[in-house]
Order: sequence, then C-alpha cells, then structure tokens
Amino acid sequence: MAHNLLKGKKGIITGALDNKSIAWKVAEKCVEEGAEIILSNAPVALRMGTINELAEKTNAKLIACDVSNNEDVEKLIDESMDHFGGQFDFMLHSIGMSLNVRKGKEYTGLNYDWMHKTFDISAISFHKMMQACYQKDAIKEWGSILGLSYIAAQRVFPDYNEMADAKALLESFARSFGYQYGKFRKVRVNTISQSPTVTTAGSGVKGFDDFISFADKMSPLGNADADSCADYCISLFSDMSKMVTMQNLYHDGGFSSTGVSAEVLR
Ligand SMILES: NC(=O)c1ccc[n+]([C@@H]2O[C@H](COP(=O)([O-])OP(=O)(O)OC[C@H]3O[C@@H](n4cnc5c(N)ncnc54)[C@H](O)[C@@H]3O)[C@@H](O)[C@H]2O)c1
Repeated sequence: MAHNLLKGKKGIITGALDNKSIAWKVAEKCVEEGAEIILSNAPVALRMGTINELAEKTNAKLIACDVSNNEDVEKLIDESMDHFGGQFDFMLHSIGMSLNVRKGKEYTGLNYDWMHKTFDISAISFHKMMQACYQKDAIKEWGSILGLSYIAAQRVFPDYNEMADAKALLESFARSFGYQYGKFRKVRVNTISQSPTVTTAGSGVKGFDDFISFADKMSPLGNADADSCADYCISLFSDMSKMVTMQNLYHDGGFSSTGVSAEVLR
C-alpha cells in the first residue's frame, strides 16, 4: 500500500539491471510513492533491454552512464537537471562489480588493474556522482543520497574478496561527503548495509547459496529481501528521516547484532 511519501519528489536511480535488482524494486516503489524518476545504467545493461521495460512501466527517462567514465557521470547529472527542470531530491547508487571476483581470483592473488576497476566502479563512482551534484548544486535542500553496502566492510567474509574493501571505501565516502553536503545544503548521505540478496551481482560471489542460508538462520527476522530494502530506501528518501546522515544503516534482519543462533548450532 502506497502512502505518497515521495509525492512531488524527483530522483535518479542507478543500477536496475533486471527485475531481481534491488534498484528495480526501489524504482517501482519510488513511483508508487509519488516520485518522478530517471533510470541510469551502463550502456551494456541498456543494450540487454530489460531496463527498457522498467522505464516504460515507471514512465522514466533512461540515461546511459558508465560510472567509470567521468564525462558520463557529468552528463548524467546535467541531463537529469535538464529533464527535471532544475534541482532534484534524491539519488540511489546501486552499483557493484569486481572483475577479480568474476574471474575467480583469490584474495591473496589479485590482479591490481582489476582491483582499481573494482574500486572505481563500486566505490569511487559514489564520490564522483556526489561531487558532480555538489558542483552543479543539483540536489535540493534536505535531499537524500543513498548507497548500498554489505557487512563485509566491517567483518571478514572471505569469499566477498576485494568487494569488502570497496564497501569499506563506499561507507567512508558516505561519512566524508555527508559532512560536506550537510553543511552545504543540508543534503543527507547514508549507506544501507543489506542482507545477502539473490541478484546478478550477489550470485557472483563464491558459495553464495550456502551463505544466504547461513545468514537467514543467523538473523532473528530472517534475511531482508529486495522488496523490504526498497521500502527502507523510500523511508530514507522521504521527509520522515530528515536528521539521519553519515550513517551506515544495517538492514539485515538482525544479522549484524547476532553472535550465534540456535539454528546455526543445530
Ligand atoms: N545482492 C546482494 O547480496 C547485496 C548485498 C548487499 C549489498 N548489495 C549491493 O547492492 C547494489 C546493487 O546490486 P544488486 O544486488 O541489486 O545486483 P545487480 O547486479 O542487479 O546490480 C548491480 C548493478 O551495477 C551496474 N553496473 C556495473 N558496472 C557498472 C558501470 N560501470 N556503470 C554503471 N553501472 C554499472 C550493473 O549494470 C547492475 O545494474 C550493489 O552495490 C551491491 O554490492 C548487494
């Protein structure tokens, strides 16, 4: 049931690849809650076609942007401002990619060119998007920016590999830029640390199926799914969370506070 929490608001949603993507659910819910959105993804994702269905369904403009290309990021913000007729209210960074993980490299035998790419796409792009918005004064006062993270930024999950380090950087950017943007325009910046979720990016991690079942057993509420993550994003884009900024917010059914559960001991 919608509550019009985003009535009159405008924002950019990155990272919707297919209907399993967390960003896909966020886009749908933003529009249900009354927002107008722009969708963005890498050109290769646009060519695959499914995001066009989402654009049609949500009446959204689609802007191609490979976040490893600085000009693309500038263009994304410029074109969004043109389309919205000025400033907008919110932005979701829902982007992650590791070539070392994709190619099965162990953490102790990483390729550093690929590591640079991982950090650039999965973390530095968050800074790039925020810096482009800041310099163009693209986001309205009390606007909200979100990135998606994972608890491997705090604790070791060996198979998450270099993505753990990328997420630690992503969370740090939320704090550091959150300070600057808070002072400048009272824009808030947070990351949501989400349960393991069955998506294209998630399933790329070795042993993901076993791990998702372990996390589910550890969490008193069970794993948080993509739909409930989208609900949480809506609350953070809305005016109901105006004073929350520079935080990494766990959305994980209680996993992060649980030492052990009866179910995993069995
Ligand atoms: N699935 C999980 O278990 C899980 C858990 C915690 C956090 N996250 C995070 O959630 C976010 C979304 O991932 P998801 O699970 O929905 O998977 P997904 O595969 O649906 O989304 C990842 C997106 O990143 C995009 N992307 C990759 N390279 C890009 C580039 N160069 N430029 C622009 N976009 C690019 C992909 O096209 C894709 O849309 C990621 O940051 C991921 O790390 C996922």
